[in-house]
Amino acid sequence: MNQSNENDPIVLAITGASGAIYGVRLLQILARSGVEIHLTISPSGAAVIQQELGLTIDLNEVDLACLLSYVPTWSTDSQATQPLTTLESMRSEIHYHRYNDFFTPIASGSFRTQAMVVCPCSGSTLSGIAHASASNLIQRAAEVHLKEHRRLVLVPRETPLSVMQLGNMQRVAAAGAVMLPASPGWYHGVESLDSLVDFVVSRILDQIGVDNSLIDRWGQT
Ligand SMILES: Cc1cc2nc3c(=O)[nH]c(=O)nc-3n(C[C@H](O)[C@H](O)[C@H](O)COP(=O)(O)O)c2cc1C
Repeated sequence: MNQSNENDPIVLAITGASGAIYGVRLLQILARSGVEIHLTISPSGAAVIQQELGLTIDLNEVDLACLLSYVPTWSTDSQATQPLTTLESMRSEIHYHRYNDFFTPIASGSFRTQAMVVCPCSGSTLSGIAHASASNLIQRAAEVHLKEHRRLVLVPRETPLSVMQLGNMQRVAAAGAVMLPASPGWYHGVESLDSLVDFVVSRILDQIGVDNSLIDRWGQT
C-alpha cells in the first residue's frame, strides 16, 4: 500500500445502488472530521437518493447543505433526529466534481489522496472498476487509486450476487481494493435503524483510518 499522508483528501463517490443513506451518512460524518473531501455522484446515484431519501439533487450544482443536514424520516436516534452536520458545523472542505468531468484533480494519480470510498457501489460501477474501463470520473478515480496502490473501499449492497459480480469482486480485491458489503452486524446492541446504518459507516471509516465512535465495538458492550 502506498504511503499516504493522513492530511491528504478522501474521495467519496455515491453511485446508483440501493442504500443511499450509507453514502449520505458517511458524507455527514466525514464533513465533521476535518478531512478534505472530494465528492462525486453518478446520475443513477442521484436517482436513488431521490427515490430512497426524497432529496432532489442537481448534479450541476449540488446542494451540500441539503445532504449534510438530511435526517431520515425513520430516524429514532435522539442524536440523529437533529441534523448531524450543517454547513456551519462542517469542519471539512468539500469539493464537488461532476461525474463526467475528467479535468478534476481526482482524475490524476499526481493528485495525492489518502483513500477513496464508493458508497453505495452499484454492480455497474464495480464492473467498470474491475475492467479498468474508466468511462466516467468515478471509475477513473477508482482506477487511479488501484494503480497508485492507495486504499479503495467499495460498498456494494446487491443480494444475491451473480457469478459475474462475484468475479468482479474477486478481480478488484486481487488488485488491492477492500470489498465492504453493506451488511450490518447485529451484535452491537441494535436499538434503531440508525445503529444499523452506523455499523456499516463505522466499518468504512475504520478502513480509511478516520477515528470514530459511532458504535460500541465488540468487547466494549
Ligand atoms: C431505485 C434503484 C435502486 C437500484 N439498486 C441497485 C442496487 O442495489 N445495486 C445495483 O447494482 N444496481 C442498482 N440499481 C441499478 C443501477 O442504478 C444501474 O445499474 C446504473 O446503471 C448504475 O449506474 P452508476 O454505477 O453509474 O451509478 C438501482 C437503480 C434504481 C433506480
